[in-house]
Amino acid sequence: MSLLTVEDLFVEYRHGARRVPAVRHVSFSLKEGECLGVAGESGSGKSTLALALLKLLPDSASLSAQRLDFDGRSVLDLAPRELRALRGGEVGFVFQDPFSALNPVLTVGDQVDEVLEWHRGGRNRQRVLDLFAQVRLPDPGDLYGAYPHQLSGGQRQRVCLAMAIASNPKLLIADEPTTALDVTVQREILNLLDDLRRDVKTQVPHPPLRGTFPQEGKENKEFPSPLGRGQGEGLAQFRRNMKMALILVTHNVGLLSERSDRLAVMYAGEIVEIGPTATVLSRPAHPYTQGLLKSLPRLSGTDRRLPALPGQPPDPKELPSGCPFRVRCPSSFERCVVHSPALRPVLDGTVQAACHLFGDFP
Ligand SMILES: Nc1ncnc2c1ncn2[C@@H]1O[C@H](COP(=O)(O)OP(=O)(O)OP(=O)(O)O)[C@@H](O)[C@H]1O
Ligand code: SF4
Ligand SMILES: [Mg+2]
Repeated sequence: MSLLTVEDLFVEYRHGARRVPAVRHVSFSLKEGECLGVAGESGSGKSTLALALLKLLPDSASLSAQRLDFDGRSVLDLAPRELRALRGGEVGFVFQDPFSALNPVLTVGDQVDEVLEWHRGGRNRQRVLDLFAQVRLPDPGDLYGAYPHQLSGGQRQRVCLAMAIASNPKLLIADEPTTALDVTVQREILNLLDDLRRDVKTQVPHPPLRGTFPQEGKENKEFPSPLGRGQGEGLAQFRRNMKMALILVTHNVGLLSERSDRLAVMYAGEIVEIGPTATVLSRPAHPYTQGLLKSLPRLSGTDRRLPALPGQPPDPKELPSGCPFRVRCPSSFERCVVHSPALRPVLDGTVQAACHLFGDFP
């Protein structure tokens, strides 16, 4: 059953008298326990999309959607109190910047305890210490009384993860959870996310919430799979055992190769390609996805030069006519200048891409 259904989501920000689109016509769904990776260049709308799912956008933003349903309820129709119960309750959120996500004048232990107070009916120091241990923070007893500025970047991110999973969420949305961290810590945090998804399944079912809330593709030499041969089924089995669904947002598509079941690639506020991660990575359909993957560092081989994707994403205030990628696209043709391509099934039908090369004609 679908846990999250998004249909034709649109977000604009007010810039003075103008309204500038940041997310356009986004549709996707997420099953229970599934991991969706969301990738794209800076400014492509990843954070805006993540925030929109929980209506966490700033006042300058306006949101509309045909449908935004979580676990059978319309998020758009929830009362403010129900929405507050959803955030941090059934859906955990890890913000892009762990420092600004934490309150500098409260100890990190108090901050996690406050989440328990709000969502689990009372503070529980022992549960906080257990959560700190679960996210592999050293010396949980000492850390309880520490302030955010006394922690390293990696430790702060682990505290944010502890807060996000404190309520055994059904869905965790993690927006660039590793951006500010060095490579070793990045991998540790991503491995931890995988472990947490599996662990959360083993815990007791979600209790009633406060208030009135009712309850693989073929090997391809040009785009070699980052998964080694034979690893795919083991990872797939591992994922099938997981319970907590995850939306993992990153500008680094390489980080998603080993962990997401499906991959959505965003460009200029739209999803331009979405499908099983292994298929998208081994046989990218959209010219933008192809360019993005070609600019990834190879984990092996001698050629470590990165051919940068030529050009810049368009200014959202001045989007070009037709396909938003056309000024950078090596395959652009006449139709691309006039008509905006819609997402449609391509290849074997498991992947969708928004590109006229796949016959998007009226
Ligand atoms: N609070 C805001 N007010 C006005 N415009 C905003 C705001 N937040 C984001 N934007 C604009 O919306 C667009 C999408 O931004 P967003 O932060 O969602 O992109 P992103 O893909 O998360 O980028 P990054 O990889 O840098 O985090 C950009 O053009 C950005 O300038
Ligand atoms: S629609 Fe045209 S410009 Fe856009 S990605 Fe496809 S070929 Fe390139
Ligand atoms: Mg972002």
